[in-house]
Amino acid sequence: MPVLETPPTVELHLHIEGTLEPELIVALAERNGVTLPYAGVEELRARYDFTDLQSFLDLYYDNMAVLRTAADFTLLAETYLRRAAAGGVRHAEIFFDPQAHLVRGVALAEVVTGLAEGLRRGEDAGITSTLIACFLRDRPAEEACEVLEQLVALDAPIVGIGLDSTEVGNPPAKFVDVFARAKELGLHRVAHAGEEGGPECVAEALDLLGAERIDHGVRALQDPALMARLVAERVPLTVCPLSNVRLKGVETLADHPLPALLDTGALVTINSDDPAYFGGYADDNLLAVADTFGLSDHQLADLARNAVVASFLPADRRRALL
Ligand code: ADE
Ligand code: ZN
Repeated sequence: MPVLETPPTVELHLHIEGTLEPELIVALAERNGVTLPYAGVEELRARYDFTDLQSFLDLYYDNMAVLRTAADFTLLAETYLRRAAAGGVRHAEIFFDPQAHLVRGVALAEVVTGLAEGLRRGEDAGITSTLIACFLRDRPAEEACEVLEQLVALDAPIVGIGLDSTEVGNPPAKFVDVFARAKELGLHRVAHAGEEGGPECVAEALDLLGAERIDHGVRALQDPALMARLVAERVPLTVCPLSNVRLKGVETLADHPLPALLDTGALVTINSDDPAYFGGYADDNLLAVADTFGLSDHQLADLARNAVVASFLPADRRRALL
């Protein structure tokens, strides 16, 4: 782990299933009697050479086969939270993908109770966290509505809903109903947009879904008027630099549009997305951009402050973190 040189921060774009490290995959496969289609950790790591978002998602969903019980989800969440806390994260708003587990025959109650226990254990390690249920945009919109009602019936401790998975071909407009229902329920609403999709996806997420944060959003830069709107409305962008490099959104980190985004005055935050797959946790992402773009301590402190402002924490907790 790198020596910590970044200020304490908040992580707002983190898929808990994307923290499944190869070593944990192998250990859980053994514990649950799951046969893996590769010989071990090294052979698995060799597959982490992604060409785009879909090539990553295919492996990401396959690897979830090892997550079977509430105890597995607890271990996954606790392991992430301890690592994040060691890297200076004080609070994390964590995505999970209910449908990715339901379609494998894992009961939603196992997922939710397991994660909730992991979050509780994280507090013992000095990090608070909340859950955001993400809906898979490449699955039917009606299914998303049904799953949200199942989460409500379980009294799942979620603070919001999100939208992830395959962006191109699955526009935000498809999910108007589930986002309207979430609003009715008093839940926060966020959406992945502008990762592989164009600026029109970002605009739709704002206009049709009422998204309060845009996850990624880097392609909004292609539309200056939209960018000006994001700045004026203080819509946070949860940017994930190492993810964008590994999924070939940009060729190298030096080509990342982070400096241009910062120049617009947008409320940018730095996050890890799927750290087990993309080579870095929140602190690694912050250190990488600090190094590549020569960010000052002042700029790093601004990024950390942006994440507190962009969080769904109550005002007293925000004040304590600022
Ligand atoms: N699910 C997990 N990681 C994702 C990403 N980067 N984009 C869309 N869906 C995801
Ligand atoms: Zn993501």
